[in-house]
Amino acid sequence: MSADEAQAAAIAGRVRAQYERFPYPHGEARISDDVLTGREFPRGCPKREFALYWPTLPERDELDILVAGCGSNQAAILGATQPNARIVAIDISAASIVRSEALARAHGVANVTHLHKSLLEAGDLGRDFDYIVSSGVLHHLPNTDAGFRALRGVLRPMGSMLIMLYGRYGRDGVYLFQDLFRRLGVTPETATADDLRHVADLVKNAPATHPITLRRAYFGDPSEAEIVDLFLHPRDVAYTVPEIYDTLARTGLALQAWYYRAHYSPRCTPLVDHPFYERIERLPERERFAIGELYRAAVHQHFFVACRDDRPRATYVPDFADDKLFALVPQLRPSFVAEPRPDGQPGLRCRLGGHLFKILQLNFDPIQSRVISLIDGRRSVGAIAGELQDLGDAATVRAYLRGLIEDLWEFDFVFLRFPG
Ligand SMILES: C[S@@+](CC[C@H](N)C(=O)[O-])C[C@H]1O[C@@H](n2cnc3c(N)ncnc32)[C@H](O)[C@@H]1O
Repeated sequence: MSADEAQAAAIAGRVRAQYERFPYPHGEARISDDVLTGREFPRGCPKREFALYWPTLPERDELDILVAGCGSNQAAILGATQPNARIVAIDISAASIVRSEALARAHGVANVTHLHKSLLEAGDLGRDFDYIVSSGVLHHLPNTDAGFRALRGVLRPMGSMLIMLYGRYGRDGVYLFQDLFRRLGVTPETATADDLRHVADLVKNAPATHPITLRRAYFGDPSEAEIVDLFLHPRDVAYTVPEIYDTLARTGLALQAWYYRAHYSPRCTPLVDHPFYERIERLPERERFAIGELYRAAVHQHFFVACRDDRPRATYVPDFADDKLFALVPQLRPSFVAEPRPDGQPGLRCRLGGHLFKILQLNFDPIQSRVISLIDGRRSVGAIAGELQDLGDAATVRAYLRGLIEDLWEFDFVFLRFPG
């Protein structure tokens, strides 16, 4: 074994030991009623957000799903939400697998097969998947690329993966504290319950000048497992937008979509009114998203959909060209919220439950609100235009709809389907 290999094995061993001692997120005894009754659903679950992954295909829920690094509850919750799927859940922590199995059993969830296994050995499963979810896992591997390659190896040609990797700029305060606690010798192996209380306390009372203070809302009121995961982790690498693109390109994958496009899109920031915006618009998409990230400097978790780099782009990128735009079928996202406008004006205030930034809300006037009320997941943009003939001639209505549909998409308010 080379020195590098020995070091990687040592890191992997420490990561495994952490999750044996502190299964993540923690030992919930049950799945919430909101999830069981469909009022809430796990982020990105294909049953509710099919069009995010397969905008050209008819919906189906008998999917083959891999949960890679399932932790103590993710797979059981997904199994309850997606009962017709065949789910395989793997994790290197036996303690997490035991908890997840118990949770599934307690709720009669019978469509999840749990295996105590590293995702690096996904190829040994001898099967492939329509959908893979791996959140908060790959950035803990000694070699993240190897993890992406292993998952890519079991992803079907038209498959999609929902990935969460840590974001560099929203976690700056976390890394300062990780360094501080490392210097003090507070580790996942040795930390006592008192140590963990002291860690939480120190972070909670960080000085006003500390970047964690600015981002405290992101990290909530963490459990013991979450405190260890956030502040004592032996291996935790955060990513920028260009690093995500590069990692995917190296591992045979492509960025299919951001789960929250608006977190990255300069069009959804005050930059849209800045004299530089014209320059931004001329840049390739990757650079525009990089600028959105640098400008906000606050994304702490990147949720994105990746697919194989040989999947045709026409199966996931909507075409806004004139003749294609009107065939698009907008569908309100499940977490879309429309409320009366707080300024008392007629029309709607719209936002997406889940967006990180409060600013990602829009006031719509009565005509825009009328268009939103016509979006039912069945009418195409062309059919919506047909309902708006009283507003002007066809060309005017179409030009108006183009701008509005692009905004709704950019702000994550709609999925766009384009049946193939
Ligand atoms: C932060 S937890 C996330 C758990 C779950 N995905 C969630 O979102 O709640 C990370 C999980 O990844 C698992 N893990 C780490 N390295 C792994 C590997 N190589 N293969 C499979 N699971 C791994 C850990 O044991 C742990 O349960």
